[in-house]
Amino acid sequence: MSTIHVKDEWKARAKLTEDQYQDWYRRSVEDPDGFWGEHGKRLDWIKPYERVKNTSFAPGNIDLRWFEDGTLNVAANCIDRHLETRGDQTAILWEGDDPADSKAITYRQLHEEVSRMANVLKDRGVQKGDRVTIYMPMVPEAAYAMLACARIGAIHSVVFGGFSPDALGGRIEGAQSDVLITSDEGLRGGRKVPLKKNADRACEIAEKAGQTVKTMLVIQRTGGEVAWQDGRDVWWHEAREAVSADCPPAEMQAEDPLFILYTSGSTGKPKGVLHTSGGYLVYASMTHEYVFDYHDGDVYWCTADVGWVTGHSYIVYGPLANGATTLMFEGVPNYPDASRFWQVIDKHKVNIFYTAPTAIRSLMGAGDAMVTKTSRASLKVLGTVGEPINPEVWSWYYRVVGDERSPVVDTWWQTETGGILITPLPGATDLKPGSATRPFFGVQPQLVDNVGTVLDGANDGNLCITDSWPGQMRTVYGDHERFEQTYFSTYPNKYFTGDGARRDADGYWWITGRVDDVINVSGHRMGTAEVESALVSHAKVSEAAVVGYPHDIKGQGIYCYVTLMEGEEPSEALQKELVAHVRNEIGPIASPDKIQFAPGLPKTRSGKIMRRILRKIAEDDFGALGDTSTLADPGVVDDLVEHRQNRK
Ligand code: WT7
Repeated sequence: MSTIHVKDEWKARAKLTEDQYQDWYRRSVEDPDGFWGEHGKRLDWIKPYERVKNTSFAPGNIDLRWFEDGTLNVAANCIDRHLETRGDQTAILWEGDDPADSKAITYRQLHEEVSRMANVLKDRGVQKGDRVTIYMPMVPEAAYAMLACARIGAIHSVVFGGFSPDALGGRIEGAQSDVLITSDEGLRGGRKVPLKKNADRACEIAEKAGQTVKTMLVIQRTGGEVAWQDGRDVWWHEAREAVSADCPPAEMQAEDPLFILYTSGSTGKPKGVLHTSGGYLVYASMTHEYVFDYHDGDVYWCTADVGWVTGHSYIVYGPLANGATTLMFEGVPNYPDASRFWQVIDKHKVNIFYTAPTAIRSLMGAGDAMVTKTSRASLKVLGTVGEPINPEVWSWYYRVVGDERSPVVDTWWQTETGGILITPLPGATDLKPGSATRPFFGVQPQLVDNVGTVLDGANDGNLCITDSWPGQMRTVYGDHERFEQTYFSTYPNKYFTGDGARRDADGYWWITGRVDDVINVSGHRMGTAEVESALVSHAKVSEAAVVGYPHDIKGQGIYCYVTLMEGEEPSEALQKELVAHVRNEIGPIASPDKIQFAPGLPKTRSGKIMRRILRKIAEDDFGALGDTSTLADPGVVDDLVEHRQNRK
């Protein structure tokens, strides 16, 4: 598909020109101290920094510090500093699950609610550095909770409301968190989600693992019936009345932790990605401004959930630091029908819209009329994130949703990166459908082959970043060695992203997807090892191997090969039971799409499962199984192929 050149209308309103991009980029990599020293001033610092960048990717000494001698408060930057100029402007525009439900929270109201929630936390003994777990539906109180933590210097750990009690319990224990903020129930697509009930169960699980939750702050959303533990459980609507609306923001060091966010990797349990205060907020707010070409007064909508990093950086921190009106949506794209997104855009006159390819693909399937019956005249910029977007889907988004009036920014980044790393800038970058285009300021991508040789020019390889940027994660919570091992040991002196990429002859970047054992299901990141351990925790399962396979809507589906215990018989009922079991262990987002019973798995003589072969079989690509001669029992493969073919 051919390049879409920047249109004059886009140029006319854009904050940056192509020449400026080039100039700024050059300076950002040649003189990072000068560049970031200047742009760090976009925040209000209590004590201004003198030192800007102090970072090392050296083996044995991964040490990342930005603005380290400066102090600030993140919540004050997102709220207090706007009060004088925009106290009565809407900060959070909330759209409920039910189209009749919406409300606007001004910066002044946000200030009061966050201050009250911070005081409630303080009253319950929460101090600087304490971890607070947040398990919430998409209601404004989720943002209050995050900002309340930031205000008093507590570290939040938001756990997506779709995760199971087991997953939540594990994260409470991992973060050694004794405060949990949740809601009676969530509401999504007209259905209730029993959050408090899950939270109660998660507390039992954490308790068994040695972590007691002493306070559970409960937000009333639906008014549904909940169990109550006196002494531990506190209703927010009652507690907020009993505290002052004044809570001075704590003075924090730039490198004090702001939040932990658990994310899946190729091995072991999910990792607690740790982000700190100053560099993170500089990076989140600056990318929000330039990647979305955000102007004062714009209504901005990111459809992510606050349980993911996208929600952290581009619903809460980035937009609020910039004094934006950020729309927060409680519902789902297809409720009451597949026109909902476009109707919400018209209802609230949304200017900037940021969503995931999986949502676009499913709405594309609902037919153009669901889109074209709405106006969408307010739109100026469209964005996508989370997984590769294929050129056809990109073009549909550009043409049908955007009426070719808005540039599409395909933004590549990760939980670990804190903010967007590779992206077009509206009005500056010529667009190629399917390409994330070029690096943001300060970002130095590099391609390497499997042994670490640097690949120049137009090429395909493993994507690394060769130097630090302010939004980079600082460590794995409680396990700095794992941080180094995971990200800096494959290719010494570089950050390895886990993604594959191609650089074309124009220097544009095309992300090709994960090259490790991580799969991307509807934009949600999943470690195949996690699904495997959920499967083998079932009494009838002896072994499991999980791979991704191409899925029309989800991008990748979850394909599970399962070997049963001696004496167990494969059946459809057991397939269903295993699906339910995984949902129960991890959550609905980990639902297996296919389960194939396998009497044996292809292993090398040393016992290593050959996933390459399993991937090919799952993809129906039987001709390309490659060399199977090193297998302990090559016959296993024929059997797997036969079963795969029979089930079609
Ligand atoms: C992985 C990170 C960062 C927000 C959402 C996901 C994939 C993300 C793109 C994109 C191709 C993308 C990568 C990455 N990914 N954005 N624009 N094009 N792939 O965060 O859960 O940490 O997942 O998502 O594979 O490594 P995450």
